[in-house]
Amino acid sequence: MATKKKQEPANESKLFTPYQLGPITLRNRIIRSAAFENMARSNAPTKELQDYHVSVARGGVGMTTVAYCAVDLSGVSFDGQLYVRPEIIPDMKKLTAAIHAEGAKASIQLGHCGNMTHFYTCHCMPVSADTWFNLYSPTIHRRLKVEEIHNLVKKFGEAVDWARECGFDCVEIHAGHAYLISQFISPRTNHRHDQYGGSFENRVRFMNEILDEVMAHAGKDMAVVVKTNMWDDCWHGSDIEEGIKVAKEIAKHKVHGIVLSGGTVSRSPMTILGGAMPYKTLAHYMNMKSFWWLKAALNIPGVHQIMLPTQPFKELYFMDKAKIFQKEISNVPLIYVGGVQSGDNCQQIMDEGFELFQIAHVLIKDPEFVHHVQENPHYHAGCGRSNYCVGRMYTLNMKCHECVERDGEVIPPRIKREIAKLEKDASISNGRK
Ligand SMILES: Cc1cc2nc3c(=O)[nH]c(=O)nc-3n(C[C@H](O)[C@H](O)[C@H](O)COP(=O)(O)O)c2cc1C
Repeated sequence: MATKKKQEPANESKLFTPYQLGPITLRNRIIRSAAFENMARSNAPTKELQDYHVSVARGGVGMTTVAYCAVDLSGVSFDGQLYVRPEIIPDMKKLTAAIHAEGAKASIQLGHCGNMTHFYTCHCMPVSADTWFNLYSPTIHRRLKVEEIHNLVKKFGEAVDWARECGFDCVEIHAGHAYLISQFISPRTNHRHDQYGGSFENRVRFMNEILDEVMAHAGKDMAVVVKTNMWDDCWHGSDIEEGIKVAKEIAKHKVHGIVLSGGTVSRSPMTILGGAMPYKTLAHYMNMKSFWWLKAALNIPGVHQIMLPTQPFKELYFMDKAKIFQKEISNVPLIYVGGVQSGDNCQQIMDEGFELFQIAHVLIKDPEFVHHVQENPHYHAGCGRSNYCVGRMYTLNMKCHECVERDGEVIPPRIKREIAKLEKDASISNGRK
């Protein structure tokens, strides 16, 4: 991909200069993206979750984002996920203090999964913009009533106060990937005829009300970023034009950054993640209680190709689309995410004019990635993009297969063969040997 100007060594570039994100100062331009750790137990933080974020903070990121925390129990999609409640504040404080002690800022992703859950996990009938059947769980979900919508809007605001009390510097509102906010935005999932459905203005109303509330509660000391979809990449979902309109709506709230992602968890998950889903790994670890249907379906030959279509992996796979957004939105910093693998990738993002970017995969393999790039601007992390970490994450603590083996856990031979094949495929599609 062409760069605008000649590349300078990464360690002399703005990459390692501080950045003012609203009221907070990051020591550099690199943020650990929200990547679900599955390290909370009984929806509460653990030492393992803390140790992982401390390792990333020690590894040099400017800020680390604790992944998906639901604003309400009804919005939890995995047992190992956090949800906002007072009982866990003391342990969350320990987590943020430990991150701060390593010189990084701490952010938490706040959201509601809407229909991406089932009764066993969220302890109620799953809710969404509309009543329908979600094949992913599988589950019937019901349309939220207007007073329930108002209540959830308030919960987002309260969640910001809770995050502050826990010691976080920033909140990231999850408005993408076909979770609840984007279930309202997307014409695929919102068929309402009231003030929250139909026209674009009505479909973004829920998000706009949430962002009003979030910004009011964030006040002058909390940074706010919003993760949005550039496009849904599924039939009848929002396209790029609508994605731009949504980003412009977000910008009106004077949030401090917009993270540009894309894809739909239940239709095009690999658009979000890049590469192929390791479906044998997924089925191997998946437990029967929560995912019996998915586990059974994945064992039928050919089904995984329909359910989890591959997106041939390319480094910086969202760059072309992110640049379109860059031309359209200049009043709020845009945060790049997607396919960062090396120091050269980091430098290219800076050269393209982005001020900040996020990384998930590479920091799962190597929490010290940032230091390596500081020492060698051309450092390549060598993450093979088999997405083993994703396949495992649905059931166990999220880890790279290299770390799993280093820690003495055995990976069955057929899973190792799948990893090797997918790494080879990703390397070919990315044009590396
Ligand atoms: C294991 C794993 C879990 C993820 N969980 C989340 C999540 O909870 N919320 C979210 O917005 N994105 C999630 N993502 C997506 C990442 O935040 C990021 O957008 C995507 O992986 C692209 O960045 P990368 O190429 O640097 O990995 C996850 C990614 C991975 C690999």
